[in-house]
This record gives sequence, structure tokens and C-alpha cells, in this order.
Amino acid sequence: MIKIAPSILSADFSKLGEDIKDLERYGADLVHIDIMDGMFVPNISFGIPIIKSIRNLTKLPFDVHLMIEEPARYIEDFVKAGADIITIHYEADRHIDRTINYIKSFGVKAGIALNPATPVENIKHLMPNLDMVLIMTVNPGFGGQKYIQYCSEKIKEVKELSNKFNKDLMIQVDGGIGKDNIKAVVDCGANVIVAGSAAFKDGMIEQNIQDLRGEF
Ligand code: DX5
Ligand code: ZN
Repeated sequence: MIKIAPSILSADFSKLGEDIKDLERYGADLVHIDIMDGMFVPNISFGIPIIKSIRNLTKLPFDVHLMIEEPARYIEDFVKAGADIITIHYEADRHIDRTINYIKSFGVKAGIALNPATPVENIKHLMPNLDMVLIMTVNPGFGGQKYIQYCSEKIKEVKELSNKFNKDLMIQVDGGIGKDNIKAVVDCGANVIVAGSAAFKDGMIEQNIQDLRGEF
């Protein structure tokens, strides 16, 4: 089953609550929530109060993508705000193994995100302990960027490791995914597809999600 995770970074924030309420009916499987600190990435998005304020509007799992330095400092806060999956960046944490266990100690799912230039090999030994690997297919920080083609190879590498070490692994791709390339990433092995601009384009969320699903 391929999951679609709309990224609310591309949402119209003046009506965020209404859209969150309807996301499940529109065919979304997860709500992808991009947290940016202006340090790990050159952009600031939004923080914990926003997550809290939308938590009760949907039953969909909250998939929180932390693009912040030293994420361990804030894990407990994100759990309390209602995160179901917390993904941290390999590049942002010197003790990634410890932080993954720390996330799991709260009973939420844990993922590692890899920037385009970070080799998949670096997290090979952690695979059995992960719920999700997020292959960034753009350099993180902004919505609406172009898919980086060499990342397709990395999706295949994660898929191979998943076959060997963790068959239940969620393989997430994030950045520059739309109607033109969603089938290609699914064919490479991705099973959780983040879509920001492709999902929220022109405010036609239901139609956009249907269109994406129609491609595979
Ligand atoms: C980028 C974020 C993405 C972003 C994707 O740093 O992690 O989740 O919202 O947006 P699109 O799908 O427009 O590339
Ligand atoms: Zn993201």
C-alpha cells in the first residue's frame, strides 16, 4: 500500500484548520509536518503550538519531519504536541543511534532523513531499529524545488536494505514529487510519498491527491 503524505508547508495557512479536517476524506494517509529552525536549513517554518492546535482536527497520523539542529532537545515536546512519527536528520545529530532509541522510548515511531549528499550506507546498521527512512530528493528547506535525479539510486539502495533487514520499513521520499515522477519513485521502492506543492496546488487538494494516485 502506497501512502500519500501531504506536506502542510505548502498549505494556505489562513485556512489550515479547515484543510486538515478534510485531508482524510481527500485521500491522505499521513499529515507531513515540516519543522525548520533557520539553522539546519536556511528557512524557518512553524513550531509546536501549530501542531497542538491542529492535533484534534484529524485522526490521521502526524508525520513530523524535524529539520532542526540537535533534535534530541525537542523530542519530548513534539511527542506531547501529538507526533506519531518523528524523523530526524542524520546530519543534525552526532548521536543519531541514541536519539532514535530516545524517540522510540516514548512509544512513537522513529525515522532518519538523509540529505541528498548523505550516503545510504551510513545508516545501514540502524535499519533493523528504524520505522522509516526518509530519502530527501531535494536539499531541504523549501517546497517547490526540482527533484534531484541521482536520489532515485538511493531509494533503490534503501529498498534493498529493507528487503534484507527490515521488511516493514517505511521508505519515504520528500521533495519535488508530482504527477510526472511519482510512478518512478514508487517503482524504485518508495512507499510513503510526501507531496507539498503537488498536493496543495491551486487549493484543489482532493483532485490533486486523486491525480497523484492515478499515476501508479
Ligand atoms: C522540504 C520539505 C518538504 C517540502 C516538499 O524541505 O521537507 O516536505 O514541503 O515540498 P514539495 O513537494 O513542493 O517539493
Ligand atoms: Zn518534509
